[in-house]
Amino acid sequence: MAAAAALSAADTVQAQDLRLNDVYKSYGNYEAVRGISIDVPKGSMVSLIGPSGCGKTTTLRMIAGLEPLSSGSITVGSKLLSDATGAVPPERRDMGMVFQSYALWPHMSVADNVGYGLKRKGLNATDIERRVSDVLAMVGMVDHVGRYPSQLSGGQQQRVALARAVASRPQILLFDEPLSNLDAVLREQMRFEIRDLQQKLGITSVYVTHSQEEALALSDKIVVMSKGLVVQSGTPAEIYERPKTAFVAGFIGLTNTLTLNRLLSDDQMAVGSFGAHRVKASGAAMNGETQQFLVSVRPSEITLSAASASPTAGMNRLVGTIQTVVFTGGIVDYFIACDGPGQTTLRVQTTPPARFEPGAQVALEFDPARTVVLEDQVNGKSQ
Ligand SMILES: Nc1ncnc2c1ncn2[C@@H]1O[C@H](COP(=O)(O)OP(=O)(O)O)[C@@H](O)[C@H]1O
Ligand SMILES: [Mg+2]
Repeated sequence: MAAAAALSAADTVQAQDLRLNDVYKSYGNYEAVRGISIDVPKGSMVSLIGPSGCGKTTTLRMIAGLEPLSSGSITVGSKLLSDATGAVPPERRDMGMVFQSYALWPHMSVADNVGYGLKRKGLNATDIERRVSDVLAMVGMVDHVGRYPSQLSGGQQQRVALARAVASRPQILLFDEPLSNLDAVLREQMRFEIRDLQQKLGITSVYVTHSQEEALALSDKIVVMSKGLVVQSGTPAEIYERPKTAFVAGFIGLTNTLTLNRLLSDDQMAVGSFGAHRVKASGAAMNGETQQFLVSVRPSEITLSAASASPTAGMNRLVGTIQTVVFTGGIVDYFIACDGPGQTTLRVQTTPPARFEPGAQVALEFDPARTVVLEDQVNGKSQ
C-alpha cells in the first residue's frame, strides 16, 4: 500500500483466534450452511472460496452478527459471539467489513466516511483527524480526504472502504468479494495491497471470494466450500498440490483427470493402467473393492518431448498427438489427444517458445509424486 509505513505499536491490535464450530443456517426448509467448522488463527487471513450460492456470504454474515445461527457457535478467543440462543450485536463485535459494493455514504466526504465509526465510538476531533489521515495514508488516499465518493474511481472508493474498515482498529476484518467490481489490472494490484495491509496490522481476517487467483495469492489458509459444506481446507500450496476431490482440483486451478484401472496400491501410492501405459500416483487410501480410480495432474506438471525420445526414469509417460497450440503470452497451451482408452484430451502448459506443432507425436511425462489420487472418485464415481 502506498504508505503502509509509519505504523506504531498502538496501531496493531491484540489479535485473537476466530472459530466457527459446527455452524448450521437454515432459511425455512433450506439449509444454506450445513455444519461447518472453520478455524481462523489469530493474525491470519483465511479465504472462503466456492461457487455462487455455496454459503460464503451467509457464513460471513453470521460471523459479523448480521444473521442468527440455527445451531453451532462462533467464538473469538475465549468469548462466545453467537450460538442458536443468542448473539452479540454487530456493533459490539469489533469487526470491520469491506463489501463488493463499496457502501460508502454518498453525502459524506472521504474524511467523514472514514471517521464516522470513530465519532460514534466517542473519539475526540483531534484523534479522529489523526486516525483518518493515518489510515488514508496507508491506502494511498490521503490527498483525497475532502472528496465525495462520486468524485472517486471504483478502485479509490474501495481504498476508502478499506480505510474505513481498519480505522477503528477492529479485532477482525471481513471481506465479501471486495474486488469483484474492479477491472482485472486493479484487482490484481489491490489484492497485494489488501494482503500487505492485513499483514502489517496483523488483523485476523476472513476473505470471501469466488476467484481462485485471489484465494491463492491472499491467504494463509483456504477453505473450499460447496453446497453449504467445507470440502477441504489447507494452505494454498496444500489445496493446489493435493486436492482431495475432483471438485477441489477443478475449482482451484486447471487440471487434467485420468481414469485408471487399478493394478496395485498401498497407503501412499497407487498404480493403474491407462491403456497400454502404467501410471503411478500418490495419496492413495483405497479399499479392496476399488477397480477404477481418478487421478489429477496439473497442466504445468507435464513435460513434453518427441515421442521418439527415450523415457525418463521414474516418470509417468503417455503418448499422444498435439491437436491445438495456443500462445497466451507467458504460457503455451497444448491440447493433446492421448493414446489410451476413450477420447482423453490432456492439457499441457509450458513456457514459450512453442516446440511442437499440431499433428506432432509427443511423449507426456509427469512425476508420480505430483499425480494425485482423487479420494472421492473410486470405481469411476463419486463416493
Ligand atoms: N435471506 C435469505 N433467505 C433465503 N435464502 C437465502 C437467504 N440468503 C441466502 N439464501 C440462500 O442461501 C444460499 C447461500 O447463499 P450465499 O451465502 O449468499 O451464497 P454465496 O455467497 O456463496 O454466493 C443460496 O442458495 C441463497 O439463495
Ligand atoms: Mg456471496
